[in-house]
Amino acid sequence: MKVTVVGAGAVGASCAEYIAIKNFASEVVLIDIKEGFAEGKAMDLMQTASLNSFDTKVTGTTNDYSKTANSDVAVITSGIPRKPGMTREELISTNAGIVKTVAENLIKHSPDVIIIVVSNPMDTMTYLAHKATGLPKNRIIGMGGALDSARFKYRLSEALDCPASDVDGMVIGGHSDTGMIPLTRLATRNSVPVSKFLSQDQMDHVKEETKVGGATLTKLLGTSAWYAPGAAVSALVQAIACDLNKMFPCSSLLDGEYGLSDVCVGVPVIIGRNGIERIVEIELDDAEKTNLEESTAAVKKTNEILTEMNLI
Ligand code: 2OP
Repeated sequence: MKVTVVGAGAVGASCAEYIAIKNFASEVVLIDIKEGFAEGKAMDLMQTASLNSFDTKVTGTTNDYSKTANSDVAVITSGIPRKPGMTREELISTNAGIVKTVAENLIKHSPDVIIIVVSNPMDTMTYLAHKATGLPKNRIIGMGGALDSARFKYRLSEALDCPASDVDGMVIGGHSDTGMIPLTRLATRNSVPVSKFLSQDQMDHVKEETKVGGATLTKLLGTSAWYAPGAAVSALVQAIACDLNKMFPCSSLLDGEYGLSDVCVGVPVIIGRNGIERIVEIELDDAEKTNLEESTAAVKKTNEILTEMNLI
């Protein structure tokens, strides 16, 4: 399995490191536009191989897409991260052109690739990748919900004072500070609904903390987070590489599912060797349905900027 990670910044490098350590890929190619940066990160990572006991070959290249040829999976992390106080949507004017060019370069050298989009605003960048490449919709995956769900589980484990491994929960909707929908109604602690342990106020607090999980870290770090985003991407890549048929909420191009069309937004999907094997339509209550409709409307509004920018 050959994986390309575009962007050797904090998220891309973390993703490459987790993929290498999990040892399910034969090769990871890091590519960046900054001279020598990807090569340096790759070499530094390879010097941990004997210490972390992995056989994955990590290489780096400065903007030479021929080195990414015949990749099975490609992760797009390129573009700028947000600064404290910014929304993800404010990154579109810088990131959209970059993501379009990157996507076009990737499929030129890897026509059978599965693309995972991380760059923000992620749902809109995922939609742009579809328009720019024309790849089958199962082969473009937006990574947001896997990260948001991990943050949801962190906040639930904090409120429950229990290990995160005891908790399960899913976040659907747009990957935005206002559009995320943490499904507290369905969250469980060892199969017991969390409502048995937490008050409504506590669940509402967990929901709100989850929604601003990225912004909270950006304020603390001065830039976007990287460990959890990198780990979330590596989990998706592993599900593809090992054909796990694992369910994640991912930004997927909808064509009538949940009554939504021509938009990419976070819904539960099964991830396997073909990328999105299928979209899972779960029963939502009226409030969740309304939240998903409102969240999707906001993503569509951001998508309109792509037209104004003449990118689609
Ligand atoms: C985050 O929420 C980068 O959007 C990503 O951290």
